[in-house]
Amino acid sequence: MKMKQLLSALLAFAVLFSVMTACGNTSTDELSSGEGTASGETAGDDTATYVNRDNVYAYDEEAPSLYEAFSQWFKVGTAMNPSDLVEGTEEFEILVKQYNIFTLENGSKPDAMHPSEDVYNFTQLEQLVEFANEYDKSVRGHTLVWHSQCPDWFFYDDDGNTVSADVLVERLIEHVTTIVSHFKGEVDVWDVVNEVLGDSGGLRDSMWYQIIGDYDGDGDSYDYIEIAFTAAHEADPDARLIINDYSLESSESKAITMYMMVKSMLEEGIPIDGIGLQMHVDYTVDVDTVRSNIEILLKLRNIDPDFVIEITELDMSCFTWSDTSTEVELTDEFVEQFDTKYTELFELFIELAEEGTLDSVVFWGYNDGATWLNSYPVSGRTNHPLLIDSDYKLKSAYWSLIDLAESKS
Ligand code: XIL
Repeated sequence: MKMKQLLSALLAFAVLFSVMTACGNTSTDELSSGEGTASGETAGDDTATYVNRDNVYAYDEEAPSLYEAFSQWFKVGTAMNPSDLVEGTEEFEILVKQYNIFTLENGSKPDAMHPSEDVYNFTQLEQLVEFANEYDKSVRGHTLVWHSQCPDWFFYDDDGNTVSADVLVERLIEHVTTIVSHFKGEVDVWDVVNEVLGDSGGLRDSMWYQIIGDYDGDGDSYDYIEIAFTAAHEADPDARLIINDYSLESSESKAITMYMMVKSMLEEGIPIDGIGLQMHVDYTVDVDTVRSNIEILLKLRNIDPDFVIEITELDMSCFTWSDTSTEVELTDEFVEQFDTKYTELFELFIELAEEGTLDSVVFWGYNDGATWLNSYPVSGRTNHPLLIDSDYKLKSAYWSLIDLAESKS
């Protein structure tokens, strides 16, 4: 046992060393675009192609379409709820007009889709798939395996005792296989696992990790991840399979940990197609750091040249993490900074798309009135993290991105 731990520590060190060497020649300066942004100048400018620019609603006929504006580079999507899918409503019009890839905000998580061992609820995801087929949209499945929004039955037997690794592996394979097979050919991308890395480095100490651990005895402890990806790939070999996590864009050590783990899984032949960056950023986001962390992750293309990243849950909080206030004053300076950060991020996304490493950018919600950031991490907050406000008006950040797309076309 001690020998195994020593070997795995040596392996981790060797991999870390190879990442540092691989990244050593790429300076932040070389990676940054060096381009400025015109968003401050164009926000609220009426001279653009669209009439009555500041009073345009996201569902209006004369409004532009976000996904059409960026279609030469990547899909633009949003998280939504089946209640948004009522034909004839403003919400429905916004979804159809503005986005071409969708994911359920909650309806395809383990607690919603597999609440008890013998019960599967496919209805919500089926509704989304039906809508997507009718309107020629793509669907992301979020998420098969997570420590949160996951029912306890997976981990306990009828007497309340923790199940064995064998039982949990069997449940995991059955769960993944049943869901992915049911939506074979209909769900284009799966977040197979979500948030598997912990906040203090290494793997998250979840029930999945604790119970399954090093199941095959090969010295690494992420076997539940390997099992989930393998089962998903067997169930739908054409679906894109993603490992999704937060803070990969801001924490270099988390990006390196992700790189090391995925590298050794790819070398073992585990079918992982890409990494999803949730991208819950705030208005102070440092885009050079985002760029250099993404460069670390994209070194995985040395192993799999088709490896991609996806932006899976983008929003930009108007509060920094440590700020506990509930209201923010939207001064001109604040809005200009917010718009500039969005523009810089999208400039980076365009560059990545042009390199062939990114083809999907999904927002976590489509309007400020219905964002999870109004209740997290501080409840009763009024946040403004998206491009469409709570009245469905197009915000200046939206127009900045339309201007950016036009200027790059
Ligand atoms: C959030 C939903 O938006 C909320 O409605 C729910 O109460 C909690 O989960 N990272 C994820 C998403 O991967 O699934 C989370 O969604 C937001 C953070």
